[in-house]
Amino acid sequence: MENPLTTKRKPVIGGNWKMHTTLSEAVDLASEVRNRLNSYGAAQTLVFPPFPFLGAVAQRLADSHIGLGAQDLHFEKKGAFTGAVSADMLVSVGCAWVLVGHSERRHVFGDGDEVVGKKLRAALTAGLKPVLCIGEKLEERKSGETFAVNRRQLRTALQGLDTAQLQHLVIAYEPVWAIGTGLVATPEQAQEVHADVRAAVGELLGGAFAAAVRIQYGGSVKAETAAGLLAKADVDGLLVGGASLKAEEFAAIVRARA
Ligand code: PGA
Repeated sequence: MENPLTTKRKPVIGGNWKMHTTLSEAVDLASEVRNRLNSYGAAQTLVFPPFPFLGAVAQRLADSHIGLGAQDLHFEKKGAFTGAVSADMLVSVGCAWVLVGHSERRHVFGDGDEVVGKKLRAALTAGLKPVLCIGEKLEERKSGETFAVNRRQLRTALQGLDTAQLQHLVIAYEPVWAIGTGLVATPEQAQEVHADVRAAVGELLGGAFAAAVRIQYGGSVKAETAAGLLAKADVDGLLVGGASLKAEEFAAIVRARA
């Protein structure tokens, strides 16, 4: 049997398109990403387009190796929740992945740890692979709470879940102060938190699971900073916002090698 402790973690690079693109721009961007990256096997590529374009992008990515995900979901299965989108809806349009707890959901839309936990469970129940996003704010970093904040977000989301349920889990460490600010964490800053996140995962779910789980870094990643981040032992991928809207730059990031 494969020993997860020695299995190499394949990098996973996601492009979070946020609230950008029109339908035609989204389909064009998906085509470009596919053309540039479908045959690249050294990393796993994911894209997260806006809700209205998921079906069209799914068609454009059909039979490719590019994974499709949504940027958020609601935790209820269905009902009177105007404007909300359920996990089953995402599956029905061809999503395999979903971002859970992105910092903009937490800090712009007010999703608390408890809501993030419910969303994670809803995603898993529907068979979606989750990218659980965590990260500290600048004032939390300044007051020395970085590890504690990330551990709290991790623990409240994961508690009560087991390794079988979480087999496809990806964690994204995204310091809030680095998202969309141009202030990328240094590889050393990322590594220090990733190592602690992995240790925390080990305490919750065991060492074998922790050794196998992939932890992405996100926050102002550009083509020129990708390789340095990926070179760190516990950085297993990247979650890219702004730079994922240009296929050429995104492809360069996915192909950046440690
Ligand atoms: P950014 O966004 O690369 O534009 O900073 C990253 C993210 O929010 O995932």
